Amino acid sequence: AEEEQAGEEYLFKIVLIGDSAVGKSNLLSRFARNEFDHNSKATIGVEFQTQVVDIDGKEVKAQIWDTAGQERFRAVTSAYYRGAVGALVVYDISRRTTFESVKRWLDELSSEFVIVTFIDVIHFNSIFMVHCDTAMARMLVGNKCDLENIRDVSVDEGKSFAEEEGLFFMETSALESTNVQTAFEMVIRDIY
Ligand code: GTP
Ligand code: MG
Repeated sequence: AEEEQAGEEYLFKIVLIGDSAVGKSNLLSRFARNEFDHNSKATIGVEFQTQVVDIDGKEVKAQIWDTAGQERFRAVTSAYYRGAVGALVVYDISRRTTFESVKRWLDELSSEFVIVTFIDVIHFNSIFMVHCDTAMARMLVGNKCDLENIRDVSVDEGKSFAEEEGLFFMETSALESTNVQTAFEMVIRDIY
């Protein structure tokens, strides 16, 4: 019977944003399938993946939306920020321009977020889409930290920018599997 108490299921929508080729798709494939692709193609539009994460013994479902960083998709992808309760804003530590773009990505994120804050909980096929009415859990991610020899953004710069903007901060490497799990889990845990 329905009172069998299958437990409530929560689905959190998280978006991955940032300039093209910073490694968003590889961060997600590393997190979801422990895979890395040296020759990955640029994402077209958006793709998403649902991942079940264990947080303190509870199953939490995260629906992670991997968006295209290329400029020509900008208008399309920002529409997908709607309903997101967490975001990882990614740059490449070996390309300074990608770090300089972060501000713009954050602006786009907050302009979309204002629209959704009035929505509380949407009952959706016995799954709840949860929208926080406070702040979105946001993390600044400096990816490709394996490229220390050609580093273009220091750890301190990343850290202090994150502090100014009130973001979590972490450097990761999808290639070497450094901090990938931790970064996603920190965002999911904060929402949860
Ligand atoms: P768009 O889909 O165009 O927005 O790009 P993206 O951010 O999804 O980048 P993607 O994951 O496709 O990676 C771009 C390139 O960077 C690929 O050649 C990857 O193999 C490489 N790459 C991704 N992560 C890392 C990393 O941690 N270290 C190194 N050295 N290379 C990486
Ligand atoms: Mg991609």
